[in-house]
Amino acid sequence: MITTIDLEPVNKILAQIELSEKLTNGKIKPAYLIPLLQDIQDEYGYLPRKVLEHVSTISGIPLSRIFGVITFYEQFYMEPQGKHTIKCCRGTACHVKNGQKISDTISEILGIAEGETTEDGLFTFETVACLGTCFLAPVVMIDDQYFGNLTNSEITKIINKYSPKGDMP
Ligand code: FES
Repeated sequence: MITTIDLEPVNKILAQIELSEKLTNGKIKPAYLIPLLQDIQDEYGYLPRKVLEHVSTISGIPLSRIFGVITFYEQFYMEPQGKHTIKCCRGTACHVKNGQKISDTISEILGIAEGETTEDGLFTFETVACLGTCFLAPVVMIDDQYFGNLTNSEITKIINKYSPKGDMP
């Protein structure tokens, strides 16, 4: 399936940059690359490759540099994300408190592996190095809400609450 990406939103973002002081000799200053990518992700929900190629052409920033920034920062996505993002901590404090089992349970409930999005677009599942709330281990974050001291049955109930269909398989 060929998906057409509308370049109008990114052109508006680039036009705003042009009007500001963020240019040097017609090129976007490197310091503004991250905010630019954030703006694009806010607009599209992720960073489509075609949009990034367009940004590279217009801005003069090499595509390899843009990809370097995207892969360095966990906040950026190159694939569409689910309505809800589930982040399961795989850090040491969570690991020793059964974090792997929680992660396996999430994967099993959703029927997807880490880094994937459910077919209905409802959930994206990620694991992260540390959620910064080790005292709550094992911890899962759904969107901007933390769930700590989790057991397998608790994470199952929590995920079901986010599903409009009720119980997940
Ligand atoms: S190790 Fe899990 S929150 Fe820090």
